[in-house]
Amino acid sequence: MNILIIGSGGREHALAWKIRQSSASVKVYVAPGNGGTAEEPNCENIPACADTVSADGQEALLAFARREEIRLTIVGPEASLAAGIVDRFRASGMAIVGPDKAAARLEASKSFAKSFMEKYGVRSAQSRTFSDYGEALRYTAEYFRRYPAGTSLVVKADGLAAGKGVVVAKGADEAVSALGFFMRDGSLGESGKRVVLEDFLPGREVSVLAAVSAAPGKPGIIAPFISARDHKRRFDGDQGPNTGGMGAIAPAPDFSESARQDFKTAILEPTLRGMEQEGLDYRGFIFFGLMVNHDRCYLLEYNVRLGDPETQSLVPLMDFDITELCSRLLNGGLKDFPLAWKRGAVCAPAAVAAGYPGNCRRGDEITIRSQEFAQTGALIFFAGAESAGGKRYTAGGRVLTVSALGADPRDAKERAYKALRSISFEGMDYRKDIG
Ligand code: AMP
Ligand code: GLY
Repeated sequence: MNILIIGSGGREHALAWKIRQSSASVKVYVAPGNGGTAEEPNCENIPACADTVSADGQEALLAFARREEIRLTIVGPEASLAAGIVDRFRASGMAIVGPDKAAARLEASKSFAKSFMEKYGVRSAQSRTFSDYGEALRYTAEYFRRYPAGTSLVVKADGLAAGKGVVVAKGADEAVSALGFFMRDGSLGESGKRVVLEDFLPGREVSVLAAVSAAPGKPGIIAPFISARDHKRRFDGDQGPNTGGMGAIAPAPDFSESARQDFKTAILEPTLRGMEQEGLDYRGFIFFGLMVNHDRCYLLEYNVRLGDPETQSLVPLMDFDITELCSRLLNGGLKDFPLAWKRGAVCAPAAVAAGYPGNCRRGDEITIRSQEFAQTGALIFFAGAESAGGKRYTAGGRVLTVSALGADPRDAKERAYKALRSISFEGMDYRKDIG
């Protein structure tokens, strides 16, 4: 059986690895893939299909998928989903995992997501949406008058902005400058012309991913995974700029059973009801970005895909066949799927290149002392890396993630950091406090 994965990050490498674990006879293609997927057994990169967003790029991918008799396609990044890759593939009778273009608005438009949450009673922060710069400024001034000093306001660009569209403004000045940047200067293009202004919520962030099978006219099913936690800030102690994720752990140790119950009733179930009532075609993965405060959960955002680096922290714990999960969510039978998880915990810190998250060094050789690495039992998932002549070189900011499964969080952390110490490249850096 031939499977196609779309994307080029650590998430896609982790998926490819997991699919190959489930069934050795599977051939996995990754479009375009990276230096990690290039070296996985029975895995092949499709560098010619690097554009997975434009209509021409997606047509080329579809032609490839038909030619190679791909039986299942799994989409990693949101941009391809928001551009309608699922609609295009399904129109040609191809099996593809992900929401269609209309359902992908749950991530691609914050204002759509917020009105969906309000309509279906999904618990989230209070917010208002603005297309008029002057009105947004007036609301901001009013917000900081209404609330005591020290309150923050969260300014969110409506559209996709590759992680650059959210500013947690600590005072009116910061909020006004973010609004100027998004709305007046158009620094994010169309994505920032409309903004959502949201009340600041205190708490700790938790990510819960889930498999969804919701098609118009049928009752939907949603199957949540165990929890995970990303670490988005660049430096130890959650300092410094936001990044694509400096590492993840799974499960999130403070996500209690009572918080999970609250998540189910206040967020998960109303989301599924909303999908059914809106008639959304959502057969894929969904990511709930939660803020949890004293076991009470609020939804910060939906992502319409698996998380990165959360996926890297979850795959070692998955005690099920992910290919089978994908075919069940497409063809029915998700309800009875045994979503089983291994005992223990995973720590998955990322190693980044000098300069990240700004401009980075590239082209440095990555070396791994394999005996030392093997003792930890960790896995390595590459992202910004290329392979050539049997060697790997850095080719991006987040170069790789190691994922270590341990008996408990402490054991996982020890293994993960031991594994990282056996890897080196010029300018390599990582956070020391993941987990
Ligand atoms: P989002 O893309 O909506 O998840 O926002 C990016 C990040 O901004 C989140 O991971 C949070 O750290 C922060 N954030 C977003 N919304 C809020 C909120 N209402 N209160 C506090 N922090 C928030
Ligand atoms: N880890 C956050 C994301 O995947 O968007």
